[in-house]
Amino acid sequence: MGKESDVYEARSYRPLALKFHREGYTNFREVMKEREYTADRDHVSWQYTARKAAEREYDALETLYPDVSVPQPVDHNRHAIVMERMEGAELSHAELDPEQAVGVLDLILRTAQDAYHEGYVHADLSEYNVFVDTDGVTVFDWPQAVPTDHENAPELLERDVENIVNYFGRKYPQQFPEDPAVDAISAAMREDAFESVREFLS
Ligand SMILES: Nc1ncnc2c1ncn2[C@@H]1O[C@H](COP(=O)(O)OP(=O)(O)O)[C@@H](O)[C@H]1O
Ligand SMILES: [Mg+2]
Repeated sequence: MGKESDVYEARSYRPLALKFHREGYTNFREVMKEREYTADRDHVSWQYTARKAAEREYDALETLYPDVSVPQPVDHNRHAIVMERMEGAELSHAELDPEQAVGVLDLILRTAQDAYHEGYVHADLSEYNVFVDTDGVTVFDWPQAVPTDHENAPELLERDVENIVNYFGRKYPQQFPEDPAVDAISAAMREDAFESVREFLS
């Protein structure tokens, strides 16, 4: 379970995932603890926030799929989106063979590079928002994605790269005896020239 949503499996002619956004809702509950009275206005406002998040995520998936490895979007309504159900495991739970670690990190960074050139920086890239299976990686959870032409896009891209590179450095220290140059990697990604972190480990 993630922090800003509830995700359910749905059965259909193929495996689907149903994600209910609840951005703004936790806050709403906190506010309500402080007050006696439940104002309709606050109720409307968390639903509005969650609906906007669902729309933003759906728009990002529609733009990115299928050129970028993201779940296929199927439909959205109010604060819910329906998408393809991913197979595999969250990266945070995956025990990779150490020899695979560099290759998997490369796939994730290439996916982020592809997304950048299709129009978005993820802006919350982490081991919790990547699925890994035998076919490769899928990057999901896009509601906070920022358009590539936004002035903060380069900075957010570098932060994404740093998060995921640091995760691999912590989890697979033998494979990453030194810290790869995150600024150089993200600069290469902006040039669409990134292929492997190997080139950034001297
Ligand atoms: N398309 C999907 N297929 C399978 N599992 C999913 C899918 N989307 C999300 N999940 C699961 O639900 C969790 C929460 O989804 P996520 O999109 O990360 O939302 P958030 O972190 O904002 O709550 C994920 O960590 C993942 O385990
Ligand atoms: Mg998430």
